[in-house]
Amino acid sequence: MSESILIINGATRKNGNTDIIISRIIESAKSNNFKPAIIELRNKNISNCIGCYTCLKDSKCFFEDDMTEIRNNINKTELIIFASPLYWCVVTGLMKTFLDRLFFYYHPHNKSLIAGKKAIIVTPMNQKDINSESEVLVDFYKRLFNCLGVKIVDMFFFNDIMAKGSVLDKPEHLEQAYSIGANLKKLKIG
Ligand SMILES: Cc1cc2nc3c(=O)[nH]c(=O)nc-3n(C[C@H](O)[C@H](O)[C@H](O)COP(=O)(O)O)c2cc1C
Repeated sequence: MSESILIINGATRKNGNTDIIISRIIESAKSNNFKPAIIELRNKNISNCIGCYTCLKDSKCFFEDDMTEIRNNINKTELIIFASPLYWCVVTGLMKTFLDRLFFYYHPHNKSLIAGKKAIIVTPMNQKDINSESEVLVDFYKRLFNCLGVKIVDMFFFNDIMAKGSVLDKPEHLEQAYSIGANLKKLKIG
């Protein structure tokens, strides 16, 4: 089961709310015999997509950077958890840069490498009103993954947390994070 779940951490802040939520997900996933792999984007070298369309022409990416290794991980994974704090109603720049580079999979030869995979979205945020604050993000992810044939199985929001580590004061959030790992079996992963 070790290769079947990949967590992409798009948080810029080390030991912040996203990291804490992810560690709870991993804890519960492990207690259900899953061993998720995790990629911390802040520790990776990922160039901005320059729109050269080499991927569309030749089905290869122009860049040789850490995305090569990350794509290898994606290709052998069934479920990808995309975790990023809400930044200006969408994702961090780190996560956006990473998502832009998934354009590689838009080429018909590459699309089968990602199409059919499952995605879970995890979003810590400061505002209380999840519905209005998450509107743009939900639309953004839906459109993106619709293009790539990735199925979003669930989206989880962790509202009303701003300061570093403040999620630790929200037992309901910690519980929700734990439930993500605990419910993976229902998705028939592995
Ligand atoms: C540049 C920036 C933009 C943000 N934009 C939003 C936003 O649009 N909506 C919101 O609810 N919170 C927003 N926040 C708050 C973060 O989502 C929140 O503090 C989150 O808990 C940070 O996660 P972290 O501890 O993993 O860094 C923003 C924070 C920063 C630094």
